[in-house]
Amino acid sequence: MIIKRPPDIKASEITDKSLYLRRREFLRDTALAGLAVAGLGASARAVAGTGEKLGNVKKSLLSSPGEELTPYEDITTYNNFYEFGTNKEDPAANSGKFKPQPWNVRVGGECNKPGSYALEDFIKPHALEERIYRMRCVEAWSMVIPWVGIPLGDVLKRFEPNGNAKYVAFTTVMRPNEMPGQRRAVLEWPYVEGLRMDEAMHPLTILSIGLYGEVLPNQNGAPLRLVVPWKYGFKGIKSIVKVEFTSRQPPTAWNISNSREYGFYSNVNPQVDHPRWSQGKERRIGEFLKRKTLMFNGYADQVASLYAGMDLQKNY
Ligand code: MTE
Repeated sequence: MIIKRPPDIKASEITDKSLYLRRREFLRDTALAGLAVAGLGASARAVAGTGEKLGNVKKSLLSSPGEELTPYEDITTYNNFYEFGTNKEDPAANSGKFKPQPWNVRVGGECNKPGSYALEDFIKPHALEERIYRMRCVEAWSMVIPWVGIPLGDVLKRFEPNGNAKYVAFTTVMRPNEMPGQRRAVLEWPYVEGLRMDEAMHPLTILSIGLYGEVLPNQNGAPLRLVVPWKYGFKGIKSIVKVEFTSRQPPTAWNISNSREYGFYSNVNPQVDHPRWSQGKERRIGEFLKRKTLMFNGYADQVASLYAGMDLQKNY
């Protein structure tokens, strides 16, 4: 079912020229000069990137060591972003008209500082980090991606969530004119996702604005998307326009679409098969032989305690 919504853009949310110019400044400030992600900018590739380099990016100690990076070309041409079509090559082919700037994020719900923030203001107080993460899709393939982003928890704290805030809900932009997939009822639009508050505040959870040292390409969720490395990739909601603190578990797009196959938690768990296939193994894109899938995608040491005492067969 497609949800038809009236246009609900308030005048206060339309980014004026001065904000637009500030974004240019922001990009200039973080520009090539300080591309601290040694070696990444020079990687040979067949696919053109966004061309906008992100500077002053610090390497994070929370990166997964010893992993070979998936080539830029694979990360940006083998995508799931149903707003641009359901085939893997559709997002790269169909997202050219999408305009990720100017961009606003609305923050609301159970917090003391709700508001509408230009992306620059939302991001700027935080230092950009490069986080190399293993990513595991529910379709049993995986990649290793050098994200550029900021810890979600640091961002959320600024809005002062109150004692009723138990979850965080995220919403993707609704723009059927620019997102041809939204004109078809393949999912209920807009795409929504959510995390429990402690998952959202966990240091491994980031908001990404780039990869391989460059501004995120549209097909990967420009200008702002979620990355939660111990959960199946569909938790990583793209092109976020709304963040809401809630007291109740929020709905999630794939759970609405098929609750038997996709739960709220969506933790990578090789012991819980997808109803139609095993989750025991995965194919790393670019490799021939399958490898064993690790509990919590290999991040168990850091995150298993979040789920102590929970039945992870039931809470899939
Ligand atoms: N976010 C939105 N808005 N729409 C989507 O269709 N697909 C999800 C997730 N985020 C999706 C989304 C799925 S199924 C996956 S596997 C990841 O994005 C893929 O991210 P990537 O294409 O950057 O690898």
